Amino acid sequence: MNAKQKFIDATGSTQFLEANQDTALEEYLKAQGWMGKEDQVTGTEKPGEGNMNFVLRVRTEQGSFIVKQARPWVEKYPQLEAPIERIHTESQFYTLVQTNDILKQYTPQLLATDLDNFLIKVEDLGNGADFSYVYQKGQDFTQLELESLLTFLQTLHQSDFSWASSSYPKNQALKALNHEHIFNFPYRADNGMDLNAIQVGLHDLATPIYRDKGLIAAIAQLGERYLGEGQHLIHGDYYPGSWLKVDGQVKVIDPEFSYFGLAEFDLSVFLAHMKMAQSDPNSISWVKENYARPTGFDEKLLDQFTGVEILRRLIGIAQLPLALSIEEKQDLVEEAISLITG
Ligand SMILES: Nc1ncnc2c1ncn2[C@@H]1O[C@H](COP(=O)(O)OP(=O)(O)OP(=O)(O)O)[C@@H](O)[C@H]1O
Ligand SMILES: [Mg+2]
Repeated sequence: MNAKQKFIDATGSTQFLEANQDTALEEYLKAQGWMGKEDQVTGTEKPGEGNMNFVLRVRTEQGSFIVKQARPWVEKYPQLEAPIERIHTESQFYTLVQTNDILKQYTPQLLATDLDNFLIKVEDLGNGADFSYVYQKGQDFTQLELESLLTFLQTLHQSDFSWASSSYPKNQALKALNHEHIFNFPYRADNGMDLNAIQVGLHDLATPIYRDKGLIAAIAQLGERYLGEGQHLIHGDYYPGSWLKVDGQVKVIDPEFSYFGLAEFDLSVFLAHMKMAQSDPNSISWVKENYARPTGFDEKLLDQFTGVEILRRLIGIAQLPLALSIEEKQDLVEEAISLITG
């Protein structure tokens, strides 16, 4: 039995939204008070690509909004279980950043939360593409976009949200899932991945990694740091899939992996994806040098997390639409290993 069926059989009390059921949706929204009694749903659509959650744009006569529901499974792969409380994390993140005048310019407004049904209602940012196109040859970030992405990140990390840290979700179950796919699974020779089916030559590229006990031990130690706690509210998934371009402006979404952790982690992911997107090396240096560090920032940890993010994206399950030859991936693997081992 898959995770989806198991959960539906076990509870029955949570209301799961479905696409193409606008009448049931309208009833739900009106019962919640999320749309006026006189208003009408005029259409729904999937607003963009996503894997984990059920995300829907709802158009009504009064305007549009987005609903996002976490289910105890991965939406695209219902056989895989996923911790449903992750939506509470997302709701809390949006609530906190809305207390900061800079951060709130970069995020959609949180309009409502239904904790019982694991749903949030957020502002519709409009039809924007995410930044996944940067992996294509000839595509890169503009300087203005990088400035926005950096401003959001350093403001987030430098903001004092300590007053909220004790009540903020620990997000441990989702972190554990992420930990598995960043720090463990990709480096096991017996993980069952057919790397050559992704790209011929990828298996040979991974083989020395599987055998490198020192490297794997170093990655495991970094994994423990990730699983622990830290001083700063971090986004937790700061990569092109979490960034939208709307009317020429950069917006940051999808903070379900956020927690009070290590600022180094967010910046490392940002830099790793610039490298995999073959961004201009001057731009990569610019981001690294101009990020205003919170006190105690650990440069070595930044490099190590950067290396791990590159490796796990190249040989792990969460593949990206990269336009890289096997030789280019080889170069990245070497760079990643030297970032980790120093
Ligand atoms: N507030 C919004 N306004 C406009 N579009 C949105 C909004 N929120 C999400 N989208 C669109 O829906 C897509 C999926 O949303 P989101 O990334 O939050 O879902 P997810 O299931 O958590 O995705 P993933 O599996 O990548 O983590 C986004 O890439 C974006 O295109
Ligand atoms: Mg997500």
